[in-house]
Amino acid sequence: MPHSKPKIRKVIFPVGGLGTRFLPATKSMPKEMLPVVDKPLIHYAFEEAQAAGIQQFIFVTGRNKHAIEDHFDHVYELQSHLSTKNKHKELELTSDWLPPPGSVSFIRQQEPMGLGHAVWCARHIIGDEPFAVILADDMVLAKTPCMKQMVKAYSETGGNIVGVIDIPREKTASYGIVDIDKSAKPRDKRLVKAKGLVEKPSPDKAPSTLSIIGRYILQPEVLDYLGRQKPGAGGEIQLTDAIAHMEPVHGYRFEGTRYDCGGLVGFVAANVAYALARGEIRERMVKELEQVFKRSNII
Ligand code: UTP
Repeated sequence: MPHSKPKIRKVIFPVGGLGTRFLPATKSMPKEMLPVVDKPLIHYAFEEAQAAGIQQFIFVTGRNKHAIEDHFDHVYELQSHLSTKNKHKELELTSDWLPPPGSVSFIRQQEPMGLGHAVWCARHIIGDEPFAVILADDMVLAKTPCMKQMVKAYSETGGNIVGVIDIPREKTASYGIVDIDKSAKPRDKRLVKAKGLVEKPSPDKAPSTLSIIGRYILQPEVLDYLGRQKPGAGGEIQLTDAIAHMEPVHGYRFEGTRYDCGGLVGFVAANVAYALARGEIRERMVKELEQVFKRSNII
């Protein structure tokens, strides 16, 4: 049966988690506002959605997340100060990128009951159309932004698409894992068809090592499954468990490098990689890093 492929106009940013791995930094500040070089994680996610042609941005927040709302709004005192001082570049960085009024919504997830629950909280704004989900703490450094690649693949395939990477088998218990349908041969070589998805299987039970990262394109029916779902792994309402009921589901091996900014090492590595990708500071960064490595007896 052919699948309809309406345009992806809406994105959900689930930002209701507690970010406990970053305490004490996240005691009074949301994890998604941690900066990589000079932009908060959530700003990169927003830019990625925009680059994919998405026009409506839905944040599912929790307590302590006011800084995210403020980030996506004008800050008149600062703007007028910068304007008086003729600091045009800084003024641009403050507000030129703001999305048009009415295109940003904030929904409150009163209790952090899991990623699936956060997505379900946005159901009334999503309505009856396919949508994207981007987890700000999964960063993808790529020539073509990851969600843009996925939207392109979706325009051919339709259905549901999850961003995937290959991981070492010993790490399967930290991810949703794709059970690959080897009989299906999608035209796009970056796509694999899933015949099932398993949330956080132990390495001996994992059907593959292809793991789901924080990029999704989903059909609205997934919200009905989420509404009926009981808590899964870790006592949380898992998004993967609901997607497992959907058909078809494809995994998309995107071009680019993913940094797991939900943990300390990935976050620091992302800072280094994104700094090195910035032409204006690259050379000085290389020199600094050489010094750091020398002092730490690494080179
Ligand atoms: P994580 O699994 O990284 O959880 O969530 P966390 O609470 O943010 O961080 P730790 O484990 O305590 O350090 C992945 C994404 O899902 C969102 C988070 O905000 C993050 O973007 N999330 C998670 C929610 O929005 N609500 C939840 O109930 C759980």
